[in-house]
Amino acid sequence: MKPKILVCRAVFPEVIEHLAAQFDVDYNDRDAPLPPAELAARLADKVGALTLLSDRIDAATLAAAPALKAVCNVAVGHNNFDLAAITAAGVMATNTPGVLNDTTADTAWALILASARRIVGADKWVRAGQWQGWKFHDDWLGTDVHHATLGILGMGRIGQAVARRAAGFEMRVIYHNRHPLPAADEQACKANWVSKEELLREADFLVLLLPYSPAVHHIVGAAELAAMKPTAHLINVARGGIVDDGALIDALQGRRIAGAAMDVFENEPALDPRFLGLDNVVLTPHIGSSTRATRLAMARLAADNLIAALQGRRPPNLLNPEVWRG
Ligand code: GLV
Ligand code: GLV
Repeated sequence: MKPKILVCRAVFPEVIEHLAAQFDVDYNDRDAPLPPAELAARLADKVGALTLLSDRIDAATLAAAPALKAVCNVAVGHNNFDLAAITAAGVMATNTPGVLNDTTADTAWALILASARRIVGADKWVRAGQWQGWKFHDDWLGTDVHHATLGILGMGRIGQAVARRAAGFEMRVIYHNRHPLPAADEQACKANWVSKEELLREADFLVLLLPYSPAVHHIVGAAELAAMKPTAHLINVARGGIVDDGALIDALQGRRIAGAAMDVFENEPALDPRFLGLDNVVLTPHIGSSTRATRLAMARLAADNLIAALQGRRPPNLLNPEVWRG
């Protein structure tokens, strides 16, 4: 008999085929998250699960899944996992680092440029037939990206990929991270470490690329937004909850910063309706890693982690090596 796994939400057919060659797959193909009670019920007899960010795995879920050996997230972020509870239950947890770095860095750049050059509003204006009355020195004046200062908060692999792309725009790049990068990495992305205060004060474009943890909840709130330049733009391609969305809306309404581009939100997919009335924010639905090639690579990597874990090999992206007993 093949081991039983749950695929919690719709993925690419080729990935299901790959998994079905090894496992007896219980597949939620609805592309909507399973309600917590149904998730727990369907995990009851499973040894593994392929999870998405919308699937919460915590002590309650684990208590209902006594045979579970591995949970494999199709994401690099894993704030849907209670990692301490998963580790305490002796279950392996994995994520998908690496394969999405360049795609997510590209998304950050798409949002920097869209916010600076008001691309989304301009597109709507053209579609609405408003071009006839165009005022050359008034309508659609944006902000220059080239030669501006790019600030990056959270300088992991994606942050560094964003920084490297800034060279073509001849920008000054500063970053803040708990620890400065090794000198060779700093040189490779031509970025300088600064304090968080300096980062907020100096950045013309502030890009957030921190992984979420309670320690960074609302790390950009009213005080931080007030410290930014009134001409600055804020870009969040990391996680909802890093920014205090209410404080950001106040800052955008009061024009205390020039603009923002948000790919992630507190409580997404719900979002504060006041965002929808603002013309100085670009809103996208968590598409940081969303190209076909990258989403496929992520799903394949998660599946490979699950196969390794259940075949007794160490999964390549094990988040909690404490549970590995080789
Ligand atoms: C996407 O948000 C991810 O964490 O991979
Ligand atoms: C603008 O279209 C220009 O030609 O300067």
